Amino acid sequence: DAGAYEAVFDAALAADERIEPRDWMPDEYRTSLIRQIAQHAHSEIIGIQPEANWITRAPSLRRKAILMAKVQDEAGHGLYLYSAVETLGARREDLLDKLHTGRQKYSSIFNYPTLTWADVGAIGWLVDGAAITNQVPLCRCSYGPYARAMVRICKEESFHQRQGYELLLALSRGTEAQRAMAQDAVDRWWWPSLMMFGPPDDESAHSAQSMAWKIKRHSNDELRQRFVDICVPQAESLGLTLPDPELRWNEERGHYDFGPIDWAEFREVLRGNGPCNAQRISQRRRAHEEGAWVREAAAAYAAKHGEARS
Ligand code: ACO
Repeated sequence: DAGAYEAVFDAALAADERIEPRDWMPDEYRTSLIRQIAQHAHSEIIGIQPEANWITRAPSLRRKAILMAKVQDEAGHGLYLYSAVETLGARREDLLDKLHTGRQKYSSIFNYPTLTWADVGAIGWLVDGAAITNQVPLCRCSYGPYARAMVRICKEESFHQRQGYELLLALSRGTEAQRAMAQDAVDRWWWPSLMMFGPPDDESAHSAQSMAWKIKRHSNDELRQRFVDICVPQAESLGLTLPDPELRWNEERGHYDFGPIDWAEFREVLRGNGPCNAQRISQRRRAHEEGAWVREAAAAYAAKHGEARS
């Protein structure tokens, strides 16, 4: 009976064991995981666009090779995560359809434009830095396939974060114009990066339940604070400033205080009114349509291969 199954599920969570695809799980647990992992997968795929914008204009062969490797990693993360959602019974084509028709979200951060080469550095340092801060605890998420996917993804994100830092360091030690370009990129990406962690805890619809289910291990505000504390000394060693006059060390709390986040801007971006929302979705749909022949060819090959074996 359902009660007995539920008791097994609760006991597994209490013992910090992983829930696996064939285990019984509450419908709401499944639905919430599908929601979060699908959004995460979509973010990886949409996140390719702002960076791919600079591949043809990278300033050297070395920088181009690094950026191509990074973008390829992000595509891999997306595919990895779509596979993780499929273990919950979701179909990839339905998830993509929901992305393309605005029925599933992707991270707010990828709706901002990459105006200069320094933006590639700021994305690596801040956006991938925020992603790691959020994702390292997901390696201990209660759902096995998601937790395991996160292990590899975090390792690759860590490389991405370092390449961004190193890129900004080169610019900040370069000519005055290069330093100014790096500073301008950090000024534009700082606040949107803080928004990546989601709404404040008292407005976060899913946090309480996701924490009870051990999907999330820390609240949105806790992780945001952790990220700010990591970034302040890194900005100092980069020789760049963070665009927040209220940023200062609070001895009592043992954390940096920071200024208010513009949540009205966040809500607008989520409603589809960010600077690049329309462009991101139309480009994604076009890529999907233009890739139809690849999916057909792969399916035909798989069918033929299956026949040959049987
Ligand atoms: N961008 C877009 N939507 C967001 C964001 C954001 N930065 N933050 C929160 N939201 C959405 C939530 O998805 C939720 O919407 P929904 O009910 O339609 O799903 C709503 O705002 C309320 O937020 P919460 O209740 O706080 O949602 P949740 O508990 O899921 O926490 C979080 C949000 C922290 C993003 C969580 O889902 C998470 O950890 N996801 C995995 C990490 C991830 O997706 N990273 C993507 C960017 S990193 C990268 O791709 C490189």
